Amino acid sequence: MRRKLVVANRKMNGSLASNKAFLEGLLAGTRDYQNADYAVCVPHPYLFQAEALLKGSAIAWGGQNMSRYESGAYTGSVSPGMLTEFSCEYVIIGHSERRQRGHDTDHSIGERFEVATKAGLKPILCIGETLDEYEDGITDVVTIRQLNAVINEIGVEGLAGGVVAYEPVWAIGTGKAASPAHAQNILSFLRGHIEMLNADIAKNIRILYGGSVNAGNAAELFSMPDIDGGLVGSASLNTADFVAICQAASNDYR
Ligand code: 13P
Repeated sequence: MRRKLVVANRKMNGSLASNKAFLEGLLAGTRDYQNADYAVCVPHPYLFQAEALLKGSAIAWGGQNMSRYESGAYTGSVSPGMLTEFSCEYVIIGHSERRQRGHDTDHSIGERFEVATKAGLKPILCIGETLDEYEDGITDVVTIRQLNAVINEIGVEGLAGGVVAYEPVWAIGTGKAASPAHAQNILSFLRGHIEMLNADIAKNIRILYGGSVNAGNAAELFSMPDIDGGLVGSASLNTADFVAICQAASNDYR
């Protein structure tokens, strides 16, 4: 059985003081809920603090993006090696906010996925359709294109080193989460696509749902057979809410 994974994407939020309160609250709030995995993806300047506070605990940490290059004249970028130096386990790749505003492309995301796994990181590959694409009924076409961009780069075997997160753009930050049935439908479709290429990888890879996951809807989303956890934005800015989401994932242990 796949263990659930709940990841906080704190985006460009936090401060040394508020991060400390959040991470300490998370450590305390998940102490008795160890049937799921948890991770916190923080802005790069806070990796040092995340490592200092979480080292030795069951909670992992990671970055929110990284360069596909190892070093060089890439002002403002962070390399995979820099993330591993701070013992990151995860890195978010291809978030829609970066696809739309940071000009990440399917191809460059595929390259990042490969570079991340080679560096020993577990990339969390974000895919998902926009509202227009959803309304046009082409969610399957868009998400498969985004997934195939990575599979073409590294082969289906390469996927095994990472995590996939289905995040419909229309559900991100809107308070309008996809219904559990819709999310389950798409995740099952994505897993089915992977299964055609490699049944073992399809069975074991974790596919998360992201987009307005909150303390009220997490348990129902996580009860769906193909939803292996959540990638959580806004609700990760409130310690009690995020802890409740983690507890829901742990309680769903089967
Ligand atoms: P929200 O949880 O705020 O909708 O954000 C989701 C997200 O973008 C996580 O990566």
